[in-house]
Amino acid sequence: MKKNFNKISNSLPYKSIRAIEDPQVNLELKRIFKNFSKNNKKIIDNKKIHQIFCNKYLKWIKNSKNNKLKNLSKFKYLNFANGSSQVFDYFYSKYKNKRFRAFRGEYVYHYISWRNHYKNWKFLDKKLNLKKNDAVVISLPFSDSGSKHPLMNKLIQICNKKNIPVLVDCCHLAMCKGINFDFNQKSIKEISFSMSKNFPVSRLRIGMRLSKIDDDDPLFFLNKLALVNKFSAYVGLKLLQKFKFDYIYEKYKDKQLKYCKKLKVKPSNIVAIATGDQKWKMYNRGGDWNRLCLSSLYEKK
Ligand SMILES: Cc1ncc(COP(=O)(O)O)c(C=O)c1O
Repeated sequence: MKKNFNKISNSLPYKSIRAIEDPQVNLELKRIFKNFSKNNKKIIDNKKIHQIFCNKYLKWIKNSKNNKLKNLSKFKYLNFANGSSQVFDYFYSKYKNKRFRAFRGEYVYHYISWRNHYKNWKFLDKKLNLKKNDAVVISLPFSDSGSKHPLMNKLIQICNKKNIPVLVDCCHLAMCKGINFDFNQKSIKEISFSMSKNFPVSRLRIGMRLSKIDDDDPLFFLNKLALVNKFSAYVGLKLLQKFKFDYIYEKYKDKQLKYCKKLKVKPSNIVAIATGDQKWKMYNRGGDWNRLCLSSLYEKK
């Protein structure tokens, strides 16, 4: 039997992390879909829409007032991706001869991919015993706590020294406040961003990869030939033209505090996430935190 990494009961109300069904965003999505149905051929034939989306998406991220993200410009190459997951897949194949490392509590997709296809992998622990032939994936904010991992800076320094490639997954960043990080690190080869968690569009697969070099890998190949989902790029572009990066955080920050007080849990930097004490251990995903997603509470009328 294959190892099951996700043991949390589906019946628990605050289980999986997901975007808030924000009424304004959903109204805008309706408008975008209507417009698409009128112009679909034009959008699909637009050779540059994914590049326009990526350039605007990076500017949008950099305009965050709530987070200090330094030196993203060092990553000159932007590629549209089918969500962060597509970026992960190419990172795995690029470093297939290395041993993959991630903390417990990361996105379960990594462990499932490695379990099935890349057997040489190991959880990271507090000792940070990294070896020269490792490759690291880490989310910022950290998926399990909703805040920067307490060992992230130390981990990156070791990777810089040992020449260990790192992928930073920023999937949750667009609903955060207080994430401060300098991306100018030798070890960080790629960064992934996605709209799946800040807007309810995870099924449209709207993501982007930032890289330091053009290594002409399959994602570069697809982007150069414009073989990407133009509809998703179009939706992404329209959403970032309508809403600011900090929109979701600012709109729901008071609700986060209200519900955290009510449930006696701790708010995280991600507005939709809180962490709980032992009383909430049924929400433990194998890491150090008991993580609750509060999105459903914010949608109550
Ligand atoms: C930490 C983290 N990274 C990445 C993803 C994948 O998102 P997507 O591929 O939709 O961008 C998820 C989804 O739950 C996640 O929790």
